[in-house]
Amino acid sequence: MKLNHLKKSDPRLYKLISAEIKRQDETLDLIASENFVSPEILEVLGSPLTNKYSEGYPGKRYYPGNLYYDEIEELARTRALKAFKLNSKNWSVNVQPYSGSPANLAIYFALTKPGDILMGMDLASGGHLSHGHKATISGKLFKSIQYSVDKKTGLINYSEVEKLAKKHKPRIIISGYSAYPRKIDFKKFGEIAKSVGAYHLADISHIAGLVSAGFHSSPFPYADVVMTTTHKTLRGPRGAVIFSRKEKMLHASGFMLHEAIDKTIFPGIQGGPHNNAIAAIAVAFGEALKPNFKKYQQQIIKNARVLAESLKKYDFNLVSGGTDNHLLLIDLKNLDIGGLEAEKILESAGIIANRNSISGDTSPFNPSGLRLGAPAVTTRGFKEKEMKKIADWIYRLLIKKEKPSLIKKEVLKLLKQRRLKGRPLTNKYE
Ligand SMILES: Cc1ncc(COP(=O)(O)O)c(C=O)c1O
Repeated sequence: MKLNHLKKSDPRLYKLISAEIKRQDETLDLIASENFVSPEILEVLGSPLTNKYSEGYPGKRYYPGNLYYDEIEELARTRALKAFKLNSKNWSVNVQPYSGSPANLAIYFALTKPGDILMGMDLASGGHLSHGHKATISGKLFKSIQYSVDKKTGLINYSEVEKLAKKHKPRIIISGYSAYPRKIDFKKFGEIAKSVGAYHLADISHIAGLVSAGFHSSPFPYADVVMTTTHKTLRGPRGAVIFSRKEKMLHASGFMLHEAIDKTIFPGIQGGPHNNAIAAIAVAFGEALKPNFKKYQQQIIKNARVLAESLKKYDFNLVSGGTDNHLLLIDLKNLDIGGLEAEKILESAGIIANRNSISGDTSPFNPSGLRLGAPAVTTRGFKEKEMKKIADWIYRLLIKKEKPSLIKKEVLKLLKQRRLKGRPLTNKYE
């Protein structure tokens, strides 16, 4: 994949893209939701598949010329089901959502009627904006009830969730988060949802790779709908997929869940599917079915755990005391810095990690947490040894207050030894 044409015709943009590729190569990516896709996925995303309109679904399109797209979309669907060991008799999958937030929105529109209540985890506890936060459509158009983690333990208090559900009788209960470092009891969520006549939506955007590889328990036996973005631990292109049980809806008698969701994606809230992204999703699920993917997911968990243990040795406080998955949250309250400052200090040393709210925080702009994730550095080939090094850098930057410029040199040296094998690097573009 080369940018030779762009270089000639649009040098300004070429320069910006080249600079971004260099930035990715020369900084340490600890953003828990990011990853580096394979060269195959980049090829497919940049292919002529982007040229075509194919509104509708395989076998029923509203444009001609979709012979190959039908097959591509079917392939993405089949592989998606296979990646989570699902049978097409019981589960349907929609691979057209443009991204996670519109996918959640479509699910809400499909499953609720006016006045219904959504119940998700609040942002400060690790939930996602699209789970009913008042700044988003999900919190404006729907009545939203939010549950929190226990302030002391940082863990989900399932009896609290149950109490809230019994009191408010939501139509949808959402499990799955953006900044929760522990395993989720999907069975418990399924039971609570059933007991109040709610749908259980599991949003596994963050942990989909870990679930697919068998390291986290599967939500599928206990959920009505499962949504995942495709670009986090799954390591695919930006996009999302929605799995729905082939069952009748709870309140719209006679209607099937998956049909309602398909209709809400198209023509409900989307137009033509992004065919290049769908083909790249097929590649990503194909990659997820290979034995190496399991090793990769296992290494992510090992790396996150070693990073957590090493930070604890330096007296950092971690929300919930550690991690079971790909991410961890430092609680900075015992230090003399906030999340915003910590993020900036790390960035000036070439370490990219985002500030994050933790339970009880009121300002998402300057929260008291820092979220660290292992998926991207693990793709880069980092193992336990390098994770210990990262903990040491964070300690020297945030506690010992060493000069970021000195640490930046060490970071760069390590990154140059762990280049992204087979993934396009700066020099290939110049
Ligand atoms: C749990 C969860 N759901 C949904 C989303 C939304 O995905 P997108 O950014 O693709 O809209 C995210 C994104 O970070 C997420 O973490």
